[in-house]
Amino acid sequence: MRKVVIGSAVICAATACAVAALIVKHRMKKSGRWARAEAIVNDFEEKCATPIGKLRQVADAMMVEMHAGLASEGGSKLKMLISYVDSLPKGDEKGLFYALDLGGTNFRVIRVQLGGKERGVINQEAEEVSIPPHLMVGSSFELFDFIASEVARFVTSESEEYQLPAGRQRELGFTFSFPVRQTSLASGTLIKWTKGFSIEETVGEDVVSELTKAIERQGLDLRVAALVNDTVGTLAGGRYYDNDVVAAVILGTGTNAAYVERAHAIPKWHGLLPKSGEMVINMEWGNFRSSHLPLTEYDLSLDTESLNPGEQIFEKLISGMYLGEILRRVLLSLAEEASFFGDTVPPKLMVPFILRTPHMSSMHLDTSSDLRVVASKLKDILGISNTSFKTRKMIVKLCEIIAKRGARLSAAGIFGILKKQGRDVLATEKQRTVVALDGGLFEHYTTFRKILESTLAEMLGEEAASSVIIKHANDGSGIGAALIAAAHSQYLELDSS
Ligand code: GLC
Repeated sequence: MRKVVIGSAVICAATACAVAALIVKHRMKKSGRWARAEAIVNDFEEKCATPIGKLRQVADAMMVEMHAGLASEGGSKLKMLISYVDSLPKGDEKGLFYALDLGGTNFRVIRVQLGGKERGVINQEAEEVSIPPHLMVGSSFELFDFIASEVARFVTSESEEYQLPAGRQRELGFTFSFPVRQTSLASGTLIKWTKGFSIEETVGEDVVSELTKAIERQGLDLRVAALVNDTVGTLAGGRYYDNDVVAAVILGTGTNAAYVERAHAIPKWHGLLPKSGEMVINMEWGNFRSSHLPLTEYDLSLDTESLNPGEQIFEKLISGMYLGEILRRVLLSLAEEASFFGDTVPPKLMVPFILRTPHMSSMHLDTSSDLRVVASKLKDILGISNTSFKTRKMIVKLCEIIAKRGARLSAAGIFGILKKQGRDVLATEKQRTVVALDGGLFEHYTTFRKILESTLAEMLGEEAASSVIIKHANDGSGIGAALIAAAHSQYLELDSS
């Protein structure tokens, strides 16, 4: 009997020892994993760093590339495209005009009634349609047909008050937010697709004639009076309301900037010098690349596996299409190398682009004490539940690192433009400099926007910053295109006589 007691006591002690050893091992394993995770995050943070000195180098490199791109066709990664917009709205535009805004996953048809100097925009209506993903990589014919049919639907359902007098054509400004080599204000060939679109047969084609043919197939009597990039539209829309707007930046699915350049400072301009002496340049800054850009292994693999490897590097660091995907890639490596979410890698985390920037933004902006928004996004989007507070906090930190890098680089880009325009220092006479900004990333990702604004102010210094204003030009690109169409209406002389 005694033996048995002793025997079982020995067994119990041994079991207790084994359990204790397991716990210790588990703890050690856990703390080892956490240390590994911290090391990965710290390394990432270091590589993403954008101290002010680096930002100045980025801004200077941007300026150098701007000069090179203006000097000759193909002279730089920055295309510096001539927009043929040599005069911006003055506020006296009149009449009924349309705009079509295609540039991301949605497109919009817009109708604007302009009442001239006194009355401004009398009426504005828009309809937004999302583009079925298969059309973004399908055929040109299908994409333009789809768009034209939506325009036709919009126009044919409008009320009597919008009927134009007999014999008068509707006129439309086409905001096409991709790199286009313009051949005139209302014609231009597509250089390449960006932002997840890829329809090879459209590259090199005149996008206005593609659209016009599709409109004709719908039996619509409508003339495309202007072809503009969204940055150019935003600049025009911004100028309509504020005479001091000199540049526009889009921070949305993609990113880009346009600004007003002195025409004689464009050596590659072979046309007549415009009367105004000015020309709006579409920089296509998304394609900017420099050795000063803080690129990490995650950015490099994102690029290699993208639809457009080697291109749009600046855009891939900044814009809404990519921020969430960068976060997913870092989380995946944490899961694989540090068992961040447990012993197995959550399968959904392996799906490219599953984590969108709006998800990242809401996790980043989570102010709840237990970070429950982070928890719910992880569960709903990635199927990851039961995360610890520490894990969730680490994810917020990653959002901060990625957004901060993007926002600070955007500010450096803007600073580069202002420097090129000589507006980075306080002018002797009191000059206002307004930069119109638009795009979902700028509009909805509040932290991103705040970092951008404070970084620009930091780069400008207190004095110069007092004369530079960042203004949200809400939906400026659509109305801007309509305004440019109005300024180039075929009925202009008729109406003014
Ligand atoms: C992409 C396009 C560019 C556009 C920008 C913002 O960078 O190439 O044309 O302006 O996205 O929409």
